[in-house]
Amino acid sequence: MTMHRVHFEPMDVVVEVRPGTSLLEAARKGNVTIRTRCAGVAGCLMCKVTAEDQSGLSPLGRAEQQKLGSQTSRGIRLACQARVQGDVTVQVPEDPLKAAIRAQLAKQKEEDTLW
Ligand code: FES
Repeated sequence: MTMHRVHFEPMDVVVEVRPGTSLLEAARKGNVTIRTRCAGVAGCLMCKVTAEDQSGLSPLGRAEQQKLGSQTSRGIRLACQARVQGDVTVQVPEDPLKAAIRAQLAKQKEEDTLW
């Protein structure tokens, strides 16, 4: 059976999966964290990823189109809905909690330099 390579950035993890595997499943296989709250039914929109070249992904489904609206024009997909059909590279957004902590630390540093 043909396997496809899914490359997750920025963590630089590559996993090989069967065609038809969702990006969410592929991420789990590679221990890449994509947070979800809806168990993969296009309900929470927490699983957004970006794929610049979408030739290795299933075409946008109706649920994705409806939920994402104009964001799809920026290459955003729902990892629970997009299925692997070829080799593909996807960008995973930073964990929002980590991003918040980093923003807080940066702010702190800025304030420290002011005083
Ligand atoms: S996992 Fe909830 S929208 Fe994809």
